[in-house]
Amino acid sequence: MMSYLSALLSPVDYIPHGICLLWQPEIIALHVGSDAAIAIAYYSIPFALIYFVWKRTDLAFPSIFVLTGAFILACGTTHVMSIVTLWQPDYRLEGIIKLITALVSVATAFAMWQTMPLALALPSTAQLEQANRSLADEIAERKRAQAALRLVVEAAPNAMVMIDRSGKIVMVNTQTERIFGYSRAELVGQPVEMLVPERLRSHHPELRTTFFADPRPRPMGAGRDLYGLKKDGSEFPVEIGLNPIETDEGTMVLSAIVDITARKAAELALRESEQRYSVLVDGVTDYAIYMIDPNGIVTNWNRGAQRIKGYRTEEIVGQHFSCFFTEEDRAANVPQQALEIAARDSWYEAEAWHVRKDGSRFVANVVIDALRNDSGQLIGFAKITRDITERVQRARELEEARISLVQSRAEEALRRAQAELAHVARVTTLGEMTASISHELSQPLAAIRTNAEACLRWLNREMPNLDQARYSVEQIINDGNRAGELIRRVRGLMKKSDTQKAPLDINHVISEVIPLMQLELDSHRVALRMELAPALPVILADRVGLQQVIINLVMNGIDAMEPITDRPRELVIGSRQDKADQILVTVEDCGVGISAENADRLFSPFFTTKSGGMGMGLRICRSIIESHGGRMSATNNSRPGATFQFTLPEDRS
Ligand SMILES: Nc1ncnc2c1ncn2[C@@H]1O[C@H](COP(=O)(O)OP(=O)(O)OP(=O)(O)O)[C@@H](O)[C@H]1O
Ligand SMILES: [Mg+2]
Repeated sequence: MMSYLSALLSPVDYIPHGICLLWQPEIIALHVGSDAAIAIAYYSIPFALIYFVWKRTDLAFPSIFVLTGAFILACGTTHVMSIVTLWQPDYRLEGIIKLITALVSVATAFAMWQTMPLALALPSTAQLEQANRSLADEIAERKRAQAALRLVVEAAPNAMVMIDRSGKIVMVNTQTERIFGYSRAELVGQPVEMLVPERLRSHHPELRTTFFADPRPRPMGAGRDLYGLKKDGSEFPVEIGLNPIETDEGTMVLSAIVDITARKAAELALRESEQRYSVLVDGVTDYAIYMIDPNGIVTNWNRGAQRIKGYRTEEIVGQHFSCFFTEEDRAANVPQQALEIAARDSWYEAEAWHVRKDGSRFVANVVIDALRNDSGQLIGFAKITRDITERVQRARELEEARISLVQSRAEEALRRAQAELAHVARVTTLGEMTASISHELSQPLAAIRTNAEACLRWLNREMPNLDQARYSVEQIINDGNRAGELIRRVRGLMKKSDTQKAPLDINHVISEVIPLMQLELDSHRVALRMELAPALPVILADRVGLQQVIINLVMNGIDAMEPITDRPRELVIGSRQDKADQILVTVEDCGVGISAENADRLFSPFFTTKSGGMGMGLRICRSIIESHGGRMSATNNSRPGATFQFTLPEDRS
């Protein structure tokens, strides 16, 4: 190696290369011309490459270009040296330049092979063209999208404002100009805070940051009242929807702003009206007013409902309204039927027993109205309930009072009619007894006359016998009293008087009337027997009424024995106390008796078997006895004839 270097550097006189070419001008010119052309070309190429690298800053592998440039430059120099060595035998310099060229070319070749895979991976021109085309398409598409966005934004019925990350207004539509009173030029490029009232501005950038941290469509300021600021300084309520929009300039936010002034005013009016309505409804305490949904669930409740039914609002809202109905009504599905009727006819009304929370019942007047929305869809029911227990009670009492009044009037009228009838019957009977009565009267009158004559005789004597005369006068007085008493009794029976009850001895009552019928008995050849038990308890009774009963029974007995000729006619009047300690009076005859077919009809009004009979005698007797709390009945005797009997309760007062 050392000997190679020393041989290389040892001074040697070389001969110019032209000699080898015999200095022939043609060949020299050919070499010089060709080498010069190559050298010029080789020198120009690196500059072109350097210029290219300098201009194309985005070049993929600039070092390859630089190496290649250096390599070509070196090659050019070797050609220059070929020209020089034609005349100057400077072969050492030429060799060094060749060496440099060799090194650079090897390095270039190495670098090129090394870069080859990367270079091959570079997109081809066709690929780049394709990429370019799709890029162009994409750009066109974006432009179209942006244009479409602009159109949509413009056509939107609401104000639309697009802002960038910094809060600068990028785009607005005509509605924005109209609502806020600014022109488009005044808005675009300005911070969006100009549309926000002063007092709300401080939060705005923070809200924007939050939005961009998680950009997704959402309403702005949920739950808060938002306001917009107009150019004239006035504020108005707004609702804002935020939408992220991806643009070439990055993510923007497109805000849709709705002026809700009118809606707010309507809401306020509605709220006020609802407030007035609820004050009104809640102020009503005499009526339960509440609403139920279409399924019968209670949705609200007023104070009247609480007062009447006992439930508090929080206890009942959400419950089914059937809990107000009775067990029986629930079992009969009345609540559901009520809703169905109300839904069908728009209205349902009923009066029924309802149940309070404590289980007590009340009479309810219930009205259910179906509630429908504007499109006619059933949205629920309004139910109004009134407690009418007291009213119903009062009406019932009134009705009862009315009925009892009518009854008492009817009873009074009946009593009067009966008294009238009894009176008529008595007078009629007395008419029939005229003979008896006059006969009875004629006796004391005849005695008076006889005694008066006797008295006169005793007085007309020479020596008047005053004792005898006095005795006669006393007899006259006795007979006068007897006659007077008789007339009093007849007048008593004739008199039309209201029944008056007084403590009486029944035996005395019987004894009083017998004389009035004595002649009647005698003329019909009827023997009267009295079986009066002594010392009977006093009864509280109407003397005239009882006398009428006895007269009627005696007269009927006389009539019943009229056809009897084959046996003695006997009438027995008895009085005693029965097993129940009541006074029992019996009038027993031995007449025709009671036929089976007539047995049930004897006491019916107007039943008679007699040609001149009215058929009222027994009917009047029974009602007189019953008005004394007693009973009257008739039976056939075991022997011929019938017995009529009545009971009277003892006076325990
Ligand atoms: N003691 C009696 N024995 C058999 N039948 C009798 C007797 N008393 C009443 N009756 C029957 O009962 C009927 C009704 O008697 P009631 O006294 O009511 O009417 P009346 O005697 O027929 O007529 P009046 O109204 O004038 O009394 C009689 O017509 C008679 O048929
Ligand atoms: Mg009679």
